[in-house]
Parts: sequence; structure tokens; C-alpha cells
Amino acid sequence: MSDKKFELTDLSSGKKSLLPVRSGTIGPDVLDIASINKDHGVFTFDPGFGVTAATESKITYIDGDAGVLLHRGYPVEQLAEKSSFMEVAYLLLNGDLPKQEQLAEFTSSIRRHTMINESLLRFTNGFHHNAHPMAMVSAVVASMSAFYHDSMDINNPRHREIFAHRIIAKLPTIAAAAHKHSLGQPFVYPRNDLDYCSNMLHMFFSVPCEEYVVDPVAAQALDLLFILHADHEQNASTSTVRLAGSTGANPYAAISAGVAALWGPAHGGANEAVLAMLEQIGTVENIPKYLAMAKDKSSHFRLMGFGHRVYKNFDPRAKIIRTACHKVLQKLGRTDNPLFELALRLEEIALQDEYFIQRKLYPNVDFYSGVIYSALGIPRSMFTVMFAIARTVGWVAHWQEMISDPAMRIGRPRQLYTGCPARDYTSVDNR
Ligand code: CMC
Repeated sequence: MSDKKFELTDLSSGKKSLLPVRSGTIGPDVLDIASINKDHGVFTFDPGFGVTAATESKITYIDGDAGVLLHRGYPVEQLAEKSSFMEVAYLLLNGDLPKQEQLAEFTSSIRRHTMINESLLRFTNGFHHNAHPMAMVSAVVASMSAFYHDSMDINNPRHREIFAHRIIAKLPTIAAAAHKHSLGQPFVYPRNDLDYCSNMLHMFFSVPCEEYVVDPVAAQALDLLFILHADHEQNASTSTVRLAGSTGANPYAAISAGVAALWGPAHGGANEAVLAMLEQIGTVENIPKYLAMAKDKSSHFRLMGFGHRVYKNFDPRAKIIRTACHKVLQKLGRTDNPLFELALRLEEIALQDEYFIQRKLYPNVDFYSGVIYSALGIPRSMFTVMFAIARTVGWVAHWQEMISDPAMRIGRPRQLYTGCPARDYTSVDNR
């Protein structure tokens, strides 16, 4: 608690109260308004949670004005350059970078949980071949609560740890099952001799009739994208996981709720929407027409992959991915990539436009990620699933932090009621 205090005065009654201020380790202070209902009989009104901290957290820090993103204090740029997805997962879950033997133990535990129950596979087969993979993944993850309900005591730290390892390990297997189902190809079982991303690529792209060798360039590119998507503090899907989990619900059900929230185009679904938009724009000559549409409030068209609730500067993840696009396309021998060229021009033109400058709209993490996923052969409908695989780590870290906090309470927002005041029921023949 800081020494600072704010005074709240009800001008109609003259009643005053002091509001304490809480300081984090970095970032703006927050006003503790817990007492205002008791003191003044009012609630606060903040639709969209624009200025409301719903929780205290030690996991991730964002300074949106400066374009800074830290995981457990480490800048995302350093993690992207020097770390691996498994190491970042350990860091987010446990608070510190692992020592050699801790990393080996963690990685080995994840590898040993990659298989899914055969009955879960049959669930996937029940979907129509053109079902969206996010619908399949969300449903299959929710159904895991039926498989691990009795053995899942959320108050038992060991149970929570097993849950964490299981869900992180099985998400790529579930995603690959959805992908193979949509192709009509046989499911490929996980290979525990491969690292996390190589195993995922193997399950996605190998077929029983010929040998498939994972391209290390592809595995490395995927690992980078997974690091960049692993967590992003209290975003919509993470807040969904927390809210669902705060009821004491089975955590697989809470993660499934997170997958569903991620799917929307304003959130993780933007990566799929960006590629669709670039294909729709087609050529550089059409950019002005689409920019005009994005600025026209009656068109409902937004520049997908642009803008962010928190970043009013470059999204640091977008910068890293743009640089990675150049390198990955070059290493894969795909330098002639018209969609990437179009995305670069679109960014350049939008960033010189007064509308985007005034509103501080910059490319976000989803603007360039689809270019890399496409170059790796991942179909557009699977882009948001890739995001979900990586973000599962963040969801689990936040769920763990919430459940292990003795002060945890059920999440229960209040409202400003603007409906009909109380009135008496009239029977149907008198209406
Ligand atoms: N294209 C055109 N105008 C935009 C855009 C855009 N992409 N984003 C925001 N604006 C305008 C908006 O119309 C508003 O204008 P005005 O002040 O004239 O009414 C102003 O900028 C502020 O926008 P907002 O909707 O109040 O901002 P928000 O914080 O509520 O929304 C956002 C943030 C990310 C949902 C929004 O910028 C957006 O829809 N972007 C496109 C979708 C997207 O790329 N989403 C991925 C987000 S990053 C990854 C993730 O979270 O998963």
C-alpha cells in the first residue's frame, strides 16, 4: 500500500472518504475502490475494463505507451532471442528461469503426457469434416474435464501441476487431431523423442505411407511464435479463464472457455482475419480503398492486425515477428511472398495516415504471424489454434496463481441496471 490517498467527495451530501492507493513493483498505481459501496452506496462503471485492474499478478507486465512486455521481469525481446518455448513455459508457471536439471525434468514430463485417450480421438471424428478447428479444440478440451474430473482436486498443488503438464502437452495432439480430421487423413500419434514444436509439426504433416523429416528451420520458427504468444497479462481469454476458474470449475472447462474467448476476431481470431483481409486487398493499388473503409465507421471493416487496447505504440511482438518473417522466408527459400510484401506496404501506408497516427494504431502480434504460419504450410483456419496452443501456458499460469491465492474470491462484476423498474404481473388476457 502506498502513502498516497485520494479523497472521494459526494457533492450532493458532502460526505467524504479516503481511497487508498496501491503500488505495484512497476507501472501506474491503482486506486483501491473496495470501500466505496459501503461508504457512498455506489459502484464504479467501466465497460470493457478500460481502467480497471481485476486482480493483482506477478506474471506479466506491459507498458503500452513504451511498447514494453516483460514475463516475470524478463523482456520479451531477450526471451525471443535466447530462450525456448519450454523454458518460457517453465518461467511463466514457476516464476524463475529453470536450472539445467529443472528444465530437463519439466521437458521430460511434458513429453510423457502427449498422448490423448482414444475416446477423445473419437470425439474429433464426430465433427463434420469442415468444422472450424477452434470449435473442435474447444469442445475436446472441455470434454477432458470428464476424463480427469475425479482425480482433479484444485486445492492440491500436485494435482494442479499434473493438470498443467497434461494440458500443455496434449494441446498440440488435440490440434493435430482436428487438422487431420479436416483433411480426412489418419491421426498421427505423438513422438516423444521429438521436441515440443518438432513433434507438433510431425503430427500435422506426416502420413503413414512415407517418411517425414521435420525441418529444423520450421520447428525453430514455430518455437519463436509460441514464445511470443505464451502470455499477455489480463487479456480477454485469460480473464475468461480466471472468471470461469474462480467458481471452482474444473480447469479443463476453464481452459476451454479461454479457447472460445480467444477465437473472436478482436482477439486471437485476428491472425486468421489478417490473411483473409490481405487476400481480399490483393494488390498494393487497392490499399487506399481498404484504408478508407477502415476509417469509415459505417463500413464495419477494421484493419485487422492493427490496434490494441493496451499498446499505444509498437507491439514489441509485432516488431520481432516482422524481422523473423524476413529470416524465415529466406531460410525456407520463399523470398517471393506477395502477401508479406503487401503487409509491409499496408503497414507503411497506414502508419503515415492521420487516422491511425491520431488513434495510435500500430500493427499488433497478429499482423505478421499468419505470413510465417502460411510459409510453414499451416492452413489459415489453424492459425488461432496455434495461438491457443501457446497461450495455454499463460492461461494455466494465471489459473494457478489465482487458485493458490488464499484471498481468491469468485469473480462477480456488478452492473448499471437500465431496464424496467419493478412492476406488477398482469395475466395474459389483460395485456
Ligand atoms: N481499424 C480501424 N480503426 C480502428 C482499429 C482498426 N483495426 N482499431 C481501433 N480503431 C479505432 C476505433 O474505431 C476507435 O475510433 P474512434 O475513436 O474514432 O471511435 C479507436 O480506434 C479506438 O478503438 P477501440 O475500438 O475503442 O479500441 P479497443 O481498445 O476497444 O479495441 C482492438 C482494441 C484490438 C479490439 C481493436 O484495435 C481492433 O478491433 N483491432 C483489430 C482486431 C485485431 O487486430 N485484434 C488483435 C488484437 S492483438 C492480439 C490479441 O489480443 O489477441
